[in-house]
Amino acid sequence: MGAYSDVYDASLAVPEAFWAEAALAVDWTRPPTRVLDDDRPPFYRWFPDAELNTCANALDRHVVAGRGEQPALIYDSPVTGVKKTYSYAELLDEVARFAGALRGLGVERGDRVVVYLPMIPQAVITMLACARIGAVHSVVFGGFAPHELAVRIDDVRPKLIVTASCGIEPSRVVEYLPMIEDAIALAAHPPMHCVVVQRDGYHREIAHYRDRDYDELMETAEPVDPVPVAATDPLYVLYTSGTTGKPKGIVRDNGGHAVALLWTMRNIYDIKPGEVFWAASDVGWVVGHSYIVYAPLLAGATTVLYEGKPVGTPDPGAFWRVIAEHNVKALFTAPTAIRVIRKEDPDAAHLNWHDVSGLKYLFVAGERLDPDTYHWACEKLGIPVIDHWWQTETGWPIAANPMGLQQLPVKAGSPTVPMPGYDVRILHDDGTACRPGEEGAICIKLPMPPGTLATLWDAEDRFAASYLSEHPGYYLTGDGGRIDQDGYLWVMGRTDDVINVAGHRLSTGAIEEVLATHPSVAECAVIGVADEIKGQAARGLVVLKDGATADGLAQDLVTMVRDEIGAVAAFRLVNVVPALPKTRSGKILRKTLRGIAAGHNEPIPSTIEDASVLDALRPILTGEDYNYS
Ligand code: COA
Ligand code: AMP
Repeated sequence: MGAYSDVYDASLAVPEAFWAEAALAVDWTRPPTRVLDDDRPPFYRWFPDAELNTCANALDRHVVAGRGEQPALIYDSPVTGVKKTYSYAELLDEVARFAGALRGLGVERGDRVVVYLPMIPQAVITMLACARIGAVHSVVFGGFAPHELAVRIDDVRPKLIVTASCGIEPSRVVEYLPMIEDAIALAAHPPMHCVVVQRDGYHREIAHYRDRDYDELMETAEPVDPVPVAATDPLYVLYTSGTTGKPKGIVRDNGGHAVALLWTMRNIYDIKPGEVFWAASDVGWVVGHSYIVYAPLLAGATTVLYEGKPVGTPDPGAFWRVIAEHNVKALFTAPTAIRVIRKEDPDAAHLNWHDVSGLKYLFVAGERLDPDTYHWACEKLGIPVIDHWWQTETGWPIAANPMGLQQLPVKAGSPTVPMPGYDVRILHDDGTACRPGEEGAICIKLPMPPGTLATLWDAEDRFAASYLSEHPGYYLTGDGGRIDQDGYLWVMGRTDDVINVAGHRLSTGAIEEVLATHPSVAECAVIGVADEIKGQAARGLVVLKDGATADGLAQDLVTMVRDEIGAVAAFRLVNVVPALPKTRSGKILRKTLRGIAAGHNEPIPSTIEDASVLDALRPILTGEDYNYS
């Protein structure tokens, strides 16, 4: 495969040499003398004796190098009608002063700051300001409800929360302050302060003595210099859904993260300093962390922060308008976004009204890119459409088609090949290797490359139990798939109870926990079922308690999930069922339910307690009738 295979082979042959060379692209305050700390397997650390500051690498050094006047951040908000560009010098000034404000409120190196903000520049500024003073940010997606926010507050124990008066969805204004109040009331570890960004036209009263106004703080804030931190110090904690209701706090380090992201910008995304990159995601997700904020800025490129949707803000030409107006070279989005655009504009007529000739690549991730959507995008855009596969845990692509290195032939439905440092293996349940083409658990041989998760926040045992113990010596991705004769990876979907709704990762276990609290529900199971636009949707199967009625129950459950988890769960499908199939030891057979609902010829497990339960469920699972939808 030429350039790709040379680089890939080199990365696995001598990882230390490969990443030492990549590390030359970073400005270290103390350069690494040791590349990999492998003294304590299965836990590994990259660049254990080095020091740097991630914010200085993302901002200061570009200003010093003469890029001060170049656009760093373009904020484009069709929901408010605001567009604003920050040069590197302007962004640095804002970040350095907000870092001073944070310090003035008592935030020090190692302290945590929860960020609950919509897609506004202050989200980027806050993240970088934390990095500047060595504080650890933890961004919580604005679509999560107070309970989810409270769970994260209690786990990460922030000194401070940065929030806004509201978020703006096309259909409604999302009031943040009441949600913050509810979350803090629920939390056992309230923060010392909340800083509130008052949005233009949406000022809300700040009543609590704990709270501060962002603009007022900035009026008097003094800029502060970046502080060197250990490469192994945490840059951020980002919570993601696991198989249980308790989210996992993915810990990202500073050094490995900077090295890996810089490598990807050049080699995977083919972005050079001064070029415009747009990840149409949200800062609350890993794509937003890596490819709205850190990677484009580390690379000296220009990043676009888009507060809008692919359709409805105002039409399905919204993406093409942004690309044309800001001369975007590469767009990164979720397949769902392409599917909704296609649904509203099947012939892509809106492309005729915008000059998108500057767009060279469309990258998609977050869920599987179905071949139909792939072919549509290729045909309409006439540029390479690159599916790439990764996870919150890894922080950057495990498999991709590396556009800056070598454009490999595409196989529709495959995210192409493993990226450097990822020794991807397909394993049977007993740990033996699958043959080419044979499906199994996708695992990565340890150590994983720099930039991947260091641990789980305050939960190293859970880190080991969740990812490292199933197949000793390997990281378990949670996805199933195969590698074909040509070395291409095929990702077939999660093997656990994680689902992906419109590119948003959710835990069916968390939804079950909410359903189970309803007084009429005896037991329940939530499974992911196929959805034409959103990829997957959550479907709840509930068994009533003796004497309970189904009247109004489904509507209640939908409201409860919205209130407890958030609108983003988009939970709408409920079936009241007579019973759930279980093993003889009482475990609900969720995988079997998933398979039957997907129309597979699902084998009946030998461990099933009563097969007639499954027979009764079959017509419900394969049908499209719901008690509520
Ligand atoms: N704050 C508050 N509420 C939010 C929110 C946010 N940041 N984001 C979404 N929501 C709400 C929506 O308003 C909607 O509420 P509703 O039920 O009252 O209508 C609900 O959560 C469901 O949202 P979503 O599933 O996103 O549907 P949508 O119709 O708003 O948008 C898409 C559909 C496809 C445009 C959108 O899901 C999308 O862009 N997905 C891509 C996701 C992504 O970027 N993933 C990262 C990997 S690249
Ligand atoms: P998240 O952590 O939110 O990025 O979600 C990660 C999960 O999304 C992965 O484990 C996969 O199940 C799924 N996923 C992400 N990208 C892809 C892709 N390109 N193809 C198939 N599944 C994907």
